[in-house]
Amino acid sequence: MGAPKSTLEGKLVLITGASGGIGAACARSLALQGVHLALTYSSSKDKTVALEKELRELAGNIKISIHQVDVSSADDLSRLFDEIVDFHRKFGPDILVSNAGHGKRIPDIADISIEEFDKMININLRSAFILCKLAIPNMTKQKWGRIIFVSSLAAHGGGINGCHYATSKAGLQGLMKSLARKHAKDGITVNDVAPAMIGETGMIPDAKFVEGTPGDVKNIPVGRLGTPDEVANVVGMFCRTGYLTGQSVLLSGGLM
Ligand SMILES: NC(=O)c1ccc[n+]([C@@H]2O[C@H](COP(=O)([O-])OP(=O)(O)OC[C@H]3O[C@@H](n4cnc5c(N)ncnc54)[C@H](OP(=O)(O)O)[C@@H]3O)[C@@H](O)[C@H]2O)c1
Repeated sequence: MGAPKSTLEGKLVLITGASGGIGAACARSLALQGVHLALTYSSSKDKTVALEKELRELAGNIKISIHQVDVSSADDLSRLFDEIVDFHRKFGPDILVSNAGHGKRIPDIADISIEEFDKMININLRSAFILCKLAIPNMTKQKWGRIIFVSSLAAHGGGINGCHYATSKAGLQGLMKSLARKHAKDGITVNDVAPAMIGETGMIPDAKFVEGTPGDVKNIPVGRLGTPDEVANVVGMFCRTGYLTGQSVLLSGGLM
């Protein structure tokens, strides 16, 4: 008797920001569940091509497409969905992991320009709204969907990047709660994972990077940075658990 089949086998998962630490970990963990993948990157093409190769070796017979997308561009996001239809022959993903994000650290509001604020909102929040607009019609039609946002501890009032980042991530939680209520009857769950201090990522390469900030490892009760795999675990739980919707899971080693 072989291993039991994953309940996610054959689903199509769109992960934005798959070139980054958390997005790549989600891709690896979901590939092992037998899903097909549409992966996006913005500037890190080489990393994404290498990830695609690794996933093919890891998971064998799954379909993987990669797409260059600036998530702050509505035109790029619309093109992404056209490319998904062309490649995967489906009218959209079954599972959307809206993960791509910008985290320029500017602690003081006086130093945050209006242009930087708008950029933050467009990449971190407006993109999720547009992706949901594109993904929900097909999920509704098929009466099954999973939407997962990667928000942040910053949405809960903590974090080290500044109020522009916190605003964008808190906005994701409003979007999440509203869509979760509205689309529960359509078989669509909407949740977010709110991580903090996840190492091995572009945002926090290592513990040194957060030394002297509120996210310093000495302030984290668990005593270490989190890992991208731990974020992927929560994303996997959301994908597999249809009774879980409208929730934000704080993954922060006990910070807050
Ligand atoms: N690391 C943490 O401690 C932490 C904590 C809380 C929340 N988060 C959130 O986790 C998510 C993933 O970040 P990460 O930690 O994995 O950092 P990362 O390694 O720097 O990954 C960021 C990803 O976002 C993509 N991206 C950035 N701007 C983009 C744009 N305009 N259009 C499309 N893609 C864009 C990057 O693409 P390219 O590299 O191809 O340009 C990259 O794939 C983000 O939303 C971040 O806010 C991280």
